[in-house]
Amino acid sequence: MVELSIIVPTYNEAENLEQLVSGIFKSLQGRDFELIIVDDNSPDGTGKLADELAQQHKNIRVVHRPGKLGLGTAILDGMAFARGEIIGVIDADLQHPPGVLRKMLERAEGGADIVVASRYVHGGGVEGWSLVRKIVSKGALWLSHLFLPQTKNVKDTLSGCFLFRKKVVKGASIDVKDFKLLIEILVKGKYERIVEVPYIFRPRVAGKSKLGARQIFSYMKQLLRLSEYRILKFMAVGVSGIFVNNGILWLLVASSILPPLFAEIFSIEASILSNFILNNFWTFKGRASGGIIYRLLKYHGSVLVGAVVNYVVFALLLSLGLHILVANTIGILIGFIFNYLLSETFVWRWV
Ligand code: GDD
Ligand code: MN
Repeated sequence: MVELSIIVPTYNEAENLEQLVSGIFKSLQGRDFELIIVDDNSPDGTGKLADELAQQHKNIRVVHRPGKLGLGTAILDGMAFARGEIIGVIDADLQHPPGVLRKMLERAEGGADIVVASRYVHGGGVEGWSLVRKIVSKGALWLSHLFLPQTKNVKDTLSGCFLFRKKVVKGASIDVKDFKLLIEILVKGKYERIVEVPYIFRPRVAGKSKLGARQIFSYMKQLLRLSEYRILKFMAVGVSGIFVNNGILWLLVASSILPPLFAEIFSIEASILSNFILNNFWTFKGRASGGIIYRLLKYHGSVLVGAVVNYVVFALLLSLGLHILVANTIGILIGFIFNYLLSETFVWRWV
C-alpha cells in the first residue's frame, strides 16, 4: 500500500514525459507515491521511453494498451493497477504544472475527499487562450452546472488534474467509455469535502492536443446521461402540454361551454397544471425546494416569462416578415429555453 497513486495517461508525449516525471518527483519528494503511466501504443515511442523510466525508478509502473482507446478509459485502466489510498490524475504534456501536486496532496491529507486543480479559483487561470477558446470553456462549465447542479460548488468541473480518495468511488458504477472522469466522480461518488487548488493552465510546448469535436459530442452525451435525460423529459412534458392545451380548448369550444377567448384561458391554465404535475413528479422527481404550493406559484411565474418571451419573439419576427408559423415556432423554442432555465435553476432548484 502506498499513500498516493498518480496516473498519467499518454499518447504521443515522448517529448514531454521526462520533464514531467522529473517535475513530479521534485514536487512529491520524500512522499510515499507511485506513478502509473498508461500508454496507448503511441507511435512516437512514448511507451518505450516509459519502460526505460520505470527501470530507473522503482515506483514507476507502465500499463501498455494496444491502441488509442481514449483518455477516460486510460485513467480507469490505470486505477485498476493503483495501490494508493489516494488516486491522482495529471496530464503528461505539462499543461498541468506538476508542482501543484504537492499542495494538492497536503489538502487531501488535511481531510479533503476530492482535490481539484482549478483554473477558476483565485490565483488560477489560463495562459495564451483566445477569446473564443475562453468562451467555449466557460460555456462548457456553465452547462455542467446547469445540467448537474450537484457539481455547482466546484468551479472547474472540467479539470483533468485532480486527487480523490479511493473510497469515494468505491461501489460507484464508473465504467463508461469516453468521458470527463471528474464529473462522473462528482455525480456518482461519495464524498464530503472538496477543495480546489489554483493552477495556471499552460500552453502546450510539444506535441498536439487530442481533444476535438468527438470529445465535445461525448461530453454532451455524458451530461445527458448523468442528468438522467432531464432536458428530454422536460421537452416531452412540454409536448404533452401542447396536446392538453389544444384538447381542453377543443372540448370547451366544441361543446359550447365557453367562448374561445375564455376557453383559451382555461386550457392554458390546464396545460400549466399538467406540466407542473408531470415535471414535479417525474422530470424533477426528488427535488423539493420549498413546499409544493410555493413551487406551483414559482412555476406560474416562470412560465409567464416564457410566454412573454414567446410572444415578443413572435411579434418581432413577424414584423421582420417571417412566416407566421415559423415566427411562432421560433418563439416557442426560445420561450421553452427560458422555461427550462427557470425550472432548473428556480422552481425545482437544487438545494
Ligand atoms: N493513453 C491515452 N489514450 N492517453 C491519452 C489519450 C488516449 O486516447 N488521449 C489523450 N491522452 C493523454 C495525452 O497524452 C495527455 O497526457 C492527456 O491525455 C490530455 O490530453 P490533451 O490532448 O493534452 O488534452 P487537453 O490539453 O486538450 O485537455 C486536458 O486538460 C483539460 C483541462 O484540465 C484534459 O485533461 C482535459 O480533460 C481537461 O479538461
Ligand atoms: Mn493538454
